[in-house]
Amino acid sequence: GNGYFTYDPGFVSTAACESKITYIDGDKGILLHGGYPIEQLAEQSDYLETCFLLLYGELPNADQKEAFFNKVRMHTMVNDQMSTFFKGFRRDAHPMAIMCGVVGALSAFYHDSLDITDEKHREISAIRLIAKMPTLAAMTYKYTIGQPFMYPQNHLSYSENFLHMMFGNPCEPSNVNPVLAKAMDKIFLLHADHEQNASTSTVRLAGSTGANPFACISAGIAALWGPSHGGANEAVLDMLNEIGDASRIDEFVARAKDKDDPFRLMGFGHRVYKNFDPRAKVMKLAADEVLAELGLENDPLLKIAKRLEQIALEDEYFIDRKLYPNVDFYSGIILKAIGIPTSMFTVIFALGRTPGWIAHWNEMISGSYRIGRPRQLYTGPVQRDFVSLDKR
Ligand code: SDX
Repeated sequence: GNGYFTYDPGFVSTAACESKITYIDGDKGILLHGGYPIEQLAEQSDYLETCFLLLYGELPNADQKEAFFNKVRMHTMVNDQMSTFFKGFRRDAHPMAIMCGVVGALSAFYHDSLDITDEKHREISAIRLIAKMPTLAAMTYKYTIGQPFMYPQNHLSYSENFLHMMFGNPCEPSNVNPVLAKAMDKIFLLHADHEQNASTSTVRLAGSTGANPFACISAGIAALWGPSHGGANEAVLDMLNEIGDASRIDEFVARAKDKDDPFRLMGFGHRVYKNFDPRAKVMKLAADEVLAELGLENDPLLKIAKRLEQIALEDEYFIDRKLYPNVDFYSGIILKAIGIPTSMFTVIFALGRTPGWIAHWNEMISGSYRIGRPRQLYTGPVQRDFVSLDKR
């Protein structure tokens, strides 16, 4: 028979693991990493320090921080064979399609990653991933626009280096706006972890088989790509562009409420938050700062976004269902202002989420775990005898 299972499609009420990394109170809109509120981390920490917190459970002291930053710096380059691998892709490939491939391919270069029982091997894989994601992400972009790959510049900060590899070229000296690099760093930090979301759960499930970390993170990148998850930041910008003018907002809100229309307001709603996503609040302020720095306060998309948020928050449909803006709602406005093309938005999410994925993977592998193996409620035909071809 079907046995006696808890039937929980979408895992709405199933905890699949214990974890010390991140706490969310969805009703109150609280997000803590290692106990520290996301607002304080966004204000006072930086992305790499938050990576350390996720990986090791504590904020680093000054020596630990320097040692960690140096370790990450030592691993920013990718094997030169990687550039050959990129050339197998079409230039018009979606950057996320390339990322699924190139990150998974790292396991072909680092054979020590296959031995996941050794703590040191797990740690070096984690460092390599955090260090190489900006390099691979920027290479993906450069490849799609036909520009030469840029080598990392290790005197730059993590986020400056990323922007240098994205927008620099070999003919000119590096020239990164520090305000934009800081905004980039905040975006990475705000994405760093979010407990058992779909992509992190995918990483854990893949990891539970004993697969190597690069393969597991590649699975996470695939799960992140969908518009219900990390793909939403790209979809938000597409939506704002499609709305085009504040006068058309009502029409789109009506469509989002119409159950016969598959359209949903992108960047709205969350499985866990039934209140403001605390990251969205920080993101909105950061968007104001960046646009002010660039003299783009009157950006028409920002205006549409703010008006849309206001209208949705006052609408009975959204109030009843507790649908609020999520992390993806305002990030795209900042990314666009920085000059990141829309098709790279989900890659930015993947880059930011890497420490979360790898921290969860490592937490699982260093503790006791079993292979993840859900059951099902079988609804197919009952047993029957095979019918030969001439009788069908
Ligand atoms: C991320 O899980 C995480 O932690 C994810 C994340 C992370 O950091 O890892 O926070 C990142 O993925 C953010 C979410 C990005 N996605 C979007 O912005 C896409 C739009 N949002 C929706 O697709 C949706 O809200 C989800 C996918 C985010 C959540 O889906 P759920 O929990 O399955 O909720 P649901 O679809 O069952 O919604 C409940 C009700 C439904 O209406 P009823 O059938 O009850 O009448 O709310 C409605 C839904 O139709 N609804 C929406 C809506 N989101 C939900 N209606 C209009 N517009 C929306 N955006």
